[in-house]
Amino acid sequence: MRSLRVLLVEDNPDHAELAGRALLREAHVNEVVRVESGQDCLERLANDCKFDLILLDYSLPGIDGLLTLGEINKNGYDMPVIMVTGHGNEEVAAEAIKIGAYDYVVKSGNYLAALPAVVMKTLENHRIKKEHAQLRENIEQNYLDTLEVLISVIEAKDSYTRGHSEGVSKYAFAIAKEMKLSSGEMERIRAAGLLHDIGKIAIDKQILLKNGPLTDEERKVVQTHCECGVKILKPATFLGEILPIVHQHHERFDGKGYPQGLKGDEIDQGARILAVADSFEAMTSARSYRSAMPFEEAVDEIRRHAGGQLDPEVVEAFLTAVKKIK
Ligand SMILES: [Fe+2]
Repeated sequence: MRSLRVLLVEDNPDHAELAGRALLREAHVNEVVRVESGQDCLERLANDCKFDLILLDYSLPGIDGLLTLGEINKNGYDMPVIMVTGHGNEEVAAEAIKIGAYDYVVKSGNYLAALPAVVMKTLENHRIKKEHAQLRENIEQNYLDTLEVLISVIEAKDSYTRGHSEGVSKYAFAIAKEMKLSSGEMERIRAAGLLHDIGKIAIDKQILLKNGPLTDEERKVVQTHCECGVKILKPATFLGEILPIVHQHHERFDGKGYPQGLKGDEIDQGARILAVADSFEAMTSARSYRSAMPFEEAVDEIRRHAGGQLDPEVVEAFLTAVKKIK
């Protein structure tokens, strides 16, 4: 097992001696390094920050324990701090917890008896916290990898759709940001932008890549991509939140869209945002059978559809957001 090092910040030599001994004897600590002031603590950390825990006395010569704790936080050292306060100084302990101390110990008659248990509990909690952070990071990476795989699948079938999806995702995210939606909601909209047309992989390539206008029959086939997308993504439970957007991104605010003909607020807000982003991206990018519409003309076109095809509140946010993108 790795050796455990504690930095003990204590100006009183007798207290330091006793605390150090208690930690070595009862908290499985291998090394206790003692410094006498907050300033010494910060200098020591600047040269050697490989400690597993800091035991920080509040009452110190020079800068006190709270100020020292603030400086430790500012430097982002990844080690838990336990504040040691004098008797009757409970407000200091509460303040220390508020600004990031893991725990506190009040110097009373038998505090040395309790100290090893507090130190061991803190080390264990810190280990668990780090493990959770690592797991969360792994899950987020797996999620991003999965999105990338799905996007590559779209690209293999239709290289236009990938570029289009990335554009839609970018515009939709900018609108969501302008509307001050939560970070979770912005992420949902960003991911839905990338995957909204995934159902197109189920559509016949002859129809999907046809040069020129579609017949009514062909249009109906293409329109099934919303429902196909839901079927494809449904088994991935972690993508469950984006399914309403994938399903409803061709619904219209005036109820004349597909597949369900939903109207106004019946349509998921993310889908209403995606509808604006989708229209704008499609108008401003060239297709094999038509050239791209100039930027300003496309903005006017979006403005014209506010309250009809498109949600006016979303269009308003788009009109502000698009100025920042241009
Ligand atoms: Fe679509």
